[in-house]
Amino acid sequence: MVVTVDGPSGAGKSSVSRRLAAGLGFAFLDTGALYRGVALGARWAGMEDQLEAVIEAWLTRLDLEARPVGGRFLVLLEGRDVEPFIRNEEMAGLASRFSALAAVRAHLLDLQRRAGRSGDLVAEGRDMGTVVFPQAEVKFFLTAEPAERARRRWLELKPSRPGLTLDEVRADLDQRDERDSRRALAPLKPAADAMVVDTTTLDEDEVLTLLMANARQKLNLA
Ligand code: DC
Repeated sequence: MVVTVDGPSGAGKSSVSRRLAAGLGFAFLDTGALYRGVALGARWAGMEDQLEAVIEAWLTRLDLEARPVGGRFLVLLEGRDVEPFIRNEEMAGLASRFSALAAVRAHLLDLQRRAGRSGDLVAEGRDMGTVVFPQAEVKFFLTAEPAERARRRWLELKPSRPGLTLDEVRADLDQRDERDSRRALAPLKPAADAMVVDTTTLDEDEVLTLLMANARQKLNLA
């Protein structure tokens, strides 16, 4: 069984999806980490500014893996856990740029679907319910007002970047939103059969309670 959680950055998907997976006893797949893994690989290989045809050829040589470990999928690049290197704004920006390329999306489609075949899964991203797992039993789309999403990102980033202003974070978020929702391929939008949840005025526990109740009911779990 597959549960999908899609939505823009700052809507509160990550921690809720992780907790939802743990509560249901499903594995957790963070597909944004795969896009960030491709971005990091591109940086290592000097592919950032290459033409798409060159990137497409490079992707066939890219050693990127989603490996199930303890209830979640670790993203490994050339056998190394990339987590410490991808959680920064630079990789977020590069991942957003690379995620608009057809070759990158096609490459990751396979990887993501393979993860879905390995057992019950909560998959988090932008196009889980629309493109990657259209047959998923349960679909959620989390969203929130842009000002609130920017505020959440700012609070998250502040400890490591004390000089960063809320306006800078907002400008960056607007730019990424624009690119993610306007791109021709798999643009960010709710699946027709997704439950849309506006998290602007909800805290994480409230969102989780809502999602868990809905998922349990749809999956016929006690
Ligand atoms: O969720 P995130 O910030 O880690 O995602 C990084 C980028 O990857 C984001 O700009 C959009 C892109 N992405 C995507 O296009 N499709 C997905 N399923 C997941 C992420």
